[in-house]
Amino acid sequence: MLQTDVLIIGAGAAGLMCAATAAARGRRVLVLDHANKAGKKILMSGGGRCNFTNLYCEPNNFLSGNPHFCKSALARFTQWDFIGLVAKHGVPYHEKKLGQLFCDNKSSDILELLLAECAEAGAQIRLDTAVHSIEKTAGGFLLQSDLGEVACQSLVIATGGLSIPTLGATGFGYQVARQFGHELLPTRAGLVPFTITDPQLKTLCTELSGTSVEDCRVSCNGQSFVENILFTHRGLSGPAILQISSYWQPGDTVHIDLLPHIDLPEWLATQQRERGNSELKTLLAELFTKKMATLLVDSWFSNKPLKQYTPGELKTIAERLSDWQLVPAGTEGYRTAEVTLGGVNTDEVSSKTLESLKVPGLYFIGEVLDVTGHLGGFNFQWAWASGYAAAQYV
Ligand code: FDA
Repeated sequence: MLQTDVLIIGAGAAGLMCAATAAARGRRVLVLDHANKAGKKILMSGGGRCNFTNLYCEPNNFLSGNPHFCKSALARFTQWDFIGLVAKHGVPYHEKKLGQLFCDNKSSDILELLLAECAEAGAQIRLDTAVHSIEKTAGGFLLQSDLGEVACQSLVIATGGLSIPTLGATGFGYQVARQFGHELLPTRAGLVPFTITDPQLKTLCTELSGTSVEDCRVSCNGQSFVENILFTHRGLSGPAILQISSYWQPGDTVHIDLLPHIDLPEWLATQQRERGNSELKTLLAELFTKKMATLLVDSWFSNKPLKQYTPGELKTIAERLSDWQLVPAGTEGYRTAEVTLGGVNTDEVSSKTLESLKVPGLYFIGEVLDVTGHLGGFNFQWAWASGYAAAQYV
């Protein structure tokens, strides 16, 4: 039978950070993962360049049933700590925008960094290894796995959420939580594109598929983000849409201000005064692409020279462009979602140690917990911070 101090299930972002840190404390650490490669999501992340943290990471960048839960871990391993690690390994990086730090080269730089830290500290990683059962014992836990029986004192669940099953995501962590009497908060896909089925809207999205509109304000349920939106064959995507998707529930209306930096009533009045013979399509083509201006005008308004619009009509145009209201049919779901909202209820886990308040020796870290970050490097920062925090106590 294999024996170890700490057994971590999941060789993803949180699991590898926890493994390296706990092993550096002198703990014997074994990481098991059913996938054939560690850190598959790290490799896929940030379009291949891994947005590994955010300069402006704050607790209010996270959604959770208990918004205070993430504070302790985030304060003890900050973005600056991870940046220090990146610098130690000589990984070149840059800020893309809004504090988002990306690798200059490849996401694999971050995975290699974590694997090097694990190797240096002596943490063992076994891939292609499934866990079949877990049992609580007097001294810890006994697991049946593809490696046979494994006994450990501390068991860390780092199996992530349900997003992108083809990258190895499973509901295993939730299953373990349930087995040990933990409550799960309902899970749903987050940071995910919207699908549209309304025929008129769908045509607009399909026709404009691939078109991006910069710096739109997208709002829902009291939350707003100013970022790009992208029309797709299925509906809407782009950073602002992904962000708001985490706040959206089926049936909710999404509000999109396509031109938040322009005072539209004022702009339209000026155009009417100074360029009254120009058609609406022609003028809007200066704010959007020509194709988008044409499609918007054809779908929403009548096209004529600006001098022919009544004040009421101009008001309607301004309102429609600054508050386009739509109800998405749904989201693309876990197939394309970056994260899973909900998960292990943080009320039953210590925010300091990440240990279960029900079962001593059992820890939950990373995305399996009901802590979900905004887009922009926050989810990895949560993985690093929660992995590091648990590693001090396992
Ligand atoms: P993670 O998913 O990383 O790891 C879980 C591990 O557990 C996996 O290795 C999996 O194989 C293993 N596992 C699952 N079930 C198991 C089982 N039954 N037995 C054994 N092992 C099992 N975030 C960010 O901050 N910046 C970014 O740029 C991106 N980009 C991005 C792109 C894409 C395409 C996705 C899907 C996600 C992102 N994210 C992101 C989100 C980020 O990847 C995610 O929040 C973290 O990887 C979560 O880290 P965890 O360690 O909790 O889970």
